[in-house]
Amino acid sequence: MVKGIILAGGAGSRLYPLTLVASKQLQPVYDKPMVYYPLTTLIENGVRELCLIATPADLPRFRQLLGDGAAWGLSIEYLAQAKPAGIAQAFLIAASFIGSDPVTLILGDNIFYGADGFKRAFADFQDGASIFGYRVHDPERYGVVEFDSEGRALSIQEKPSQPRSNHAVPGLYLYDNQVVEITKNLRPSERGELEITDVNVAYLRRGQLRVHQLSRGFAWLDAGTSSSLHEASAYVQTIEKRQGIKIGCPEEAAFRRGFMSRDELEKQTAQMPNCEYRDYLHRVLAEAAR
Ligand code: G1P
Repeated sequence: MVKGIILAGGAGSRLYPLTLVASKQLQPVYDKPMVYYPLTTLIENGVRELCLIATPADLPRFRQLLGDGAAWGLSIEYLAQAKPAGIAQAFLIAASFIGSDPVTLILGDNIFYGADGFKRAFADFQDGASIFGYRVHDPERYGVVEFDSEGRALSIQEKPSQPRSNHAVPGLYLYDNQVVEITKNLRPSERGELEITDVNVAYLRRGQLRVHQLSRGFAWLDAGTSSSLHEASAYVQTIEKRQGIKIGCPEEAAFRRGFMSRDELEKQTAQMPNCEYRDYLHRVLAEAAR
């Protein structure tokens, strides 16, 4: 079973002063805390054993929000990232959580939306690493993957000043158990971080990296600056209003995935205040009963 890590660390300095009282991944994206979105993405892809990594100061809040996950049919552990030293550090912090299993890592500020974007990658995953490519207009802000004419990855570079393609690597990665050992052998980059891109390069060198291209109908938003946070909220609001569905609703995802029974979901909605979120879950229950 693939285990899941949600990395919700970092100082959130680009969102100051919002982040004086709550970390970036707890900020609202329209009608829910940001971390609900990556959590829902993992649930939708069948991950139910999770670990959330955040700064020691923020961990109690995340725990207050998500608990041990049992109510949603999940298990959630919490681990502290005392000093942020790069995304790949997550595999060292979570080494004993990972044990001998494969693992998927999602960044706590990455929001994905669209029909089954990751479904095939999760279903086909056996070993090595699977990452994704997504066309953006500003690849220099991201890890960038270059393909040959047959769609095989040729190179991956972290925030290159002269990107070799327009394909950025989004913050969701799937690895077999080699990832822990690969990370242990990494050296910090010039900016002093254990780079996720270096992990991917290591798999590429071993001939064990698969890059799945996400289609243009799929949405990948990041919410790390005030303006991208606002845009992400506007996007979620637009879709939710138009379609009468919710993006990033972990209760719904857990229910649809069969992690949580109907009775359990009914019990939980009964404990919610009278609000639009509860009304929505009542609709989900009613529609499922038809
Ligand atoms: C990180 C990774 C980068 C990736 C991006 C996705 O960058 O280093 O490779 O494309 O996340 O959001 P950061 O946003 O931490 O600078």
